Amino acid sequence: MKRTLIVLLVFVMTFSLVACTPATPAESGSELPGVGVTIYKFDDNFMSFVRGAIQREAEGKLDLTLVDSANDQAKQNEQVDGFIQKGVKVLAINLVDPQAASAIIEKAKVADLPVVFYNKEPDQSAMDSYDKAWYVGTRSAESGEIQGQMILDAWNANPDWDKNGDGVMQYVLLKGEPGHPDAEARTKYAVETVVNGGVQVEELELQTGMWDTAKGKDLMDTWISKHGDAIEMVIANNDAMALGALTSLEAAGYMVEGKFVPIVGVDAIPDALAKIEEGKLVGSVLNDAGNQGKAVIDLANNLANGKDVLEGLDWTLDEAKAVRVPYKAITLDNLDDAKASYGQ
Ligand code: BGC
Ligand code: CA
Repeated sequence: MKRTLIVLLVFVMTFSLVACTPATPAESGSELPGVGVTIYKFDDNFMSFVRGAIQREAEGKLDLTLVDSANDQAKQNEQVDGFIQKGVKVLAINLVDPQAASAIIEKAKVADLPVVFYNKEPDQSAMDSYDKAWYVGTRSAESGEIQGQMILDAWNANPDWDKNGDGVMQYVLLKGEPGHPDAEARTKYAVETVVNGGVQVEELELQTGMWDTAKGKDLMDTWISKHGDAIEMVIANNDAMALGALTSLEAAGYMVEGKFVPIVGVDAIPDALAKIEEGKLVGSVLNDAGNQGKAVIDLANNLANGKDVLEGLDWTLDEAKAVRVPYKAITLDNLDDAKASYGQ
C-alpha cells in the first residue's frame, strides 16, 4: 500500500514537472533570434551544399528565413526589405550581382543591422563603407593556384597528353560568371601557374558557362566539333561545368581507351568525386562548403546575440573583414578529405 503510494507520488510529481517546463525556444522556433538568409539561386550545384550546411548549423540556435533570389538582384533587394520588416537581427547575403553590395548595405544601415555577405565577395569599397559588414568565403586566387599546380604536375607526369607533340598545352577554359571574383581569379591564376611552371600553353577557347552543367556541355559540344582531337586539356572554373564537359566528351566518343582528355574542376562536390574515382576527372579543388556554411552561422549567431563577431570562435578576420576558408587539392589520393566537407 505504502509502496503504491510512493510510486503514485513519483508519477504525479514527474508529470507535473514535465507539464510545468516551458517550451524551449528550439521547440517554439519563434523565440530564437531571426536571421534573413539569401541564396543567389537555389539552382546552383555548389550553393545547395552551402545551403545545407547553413541549415544544419543554425538548428536550435537561429530562426532562419532562407530564400531563393532566383538569380535576380531586384528580387533579392525586395527580399531584404521583407527580412527587415519581419524584424530579423542579422542579414546573411549571397549576392546575385557581386557589384550590388552597396544597395544591401544602404538598407542594413537604415535598419542598423549587421550583414554577413558570403560566397560572392563585395568590392572592398563597399565593405569599408559599413563597420557592420563582414564576408565569409575563400581567397579566390588560391583555387586558381592550386588548380594550376595540379594541371602542371599531371601534364608533366603524362607526356602522351601532348597529343600533337608540339610541347604546347592546347586548352579550352570554361569560365564561371564574369565579374564573379572566383571566376576571374581562377581563370587568371590557373593558367598563370601553368605558364610560370614552365609549360607553354595555347588557348583554343575561353567562354563563360555561368557555373552551369548544361551550359558547360553545350560549349564543349561546339568546341569538340570545331577542334576535335586538338583539345589537350579542359580547365573548368567549377565542377558543375567540368561534369558538363565530361558528358559532352563521352557522347562524342572520348574518354575511352586511347581517347582520354584531361579535365580539372573546382569545388570537389560529390558527383565530381565519383568521377575522379572512376578516373574520368583528373582532380578538383575542395571549396569547403561545410566550413563556409558553418562560418556564416557562427558569425551570424554571435551578431544576433549582440556579441562581438568573433567571440568564442576560432575563425580569424583579415584586413578586408573576411573569414577565408582554405582550399585543398583533391585527387584520387585524398578523396575522403572532400567527402567530409560535403557531409558524405
Ligand atoms: C563555386 C561555384 C558556384 C559559385 C556561386 C563558387 O565559389 O565554385 O561552383 O557556382 O561559387 O557563386
Ligand atoms: Ca600540344
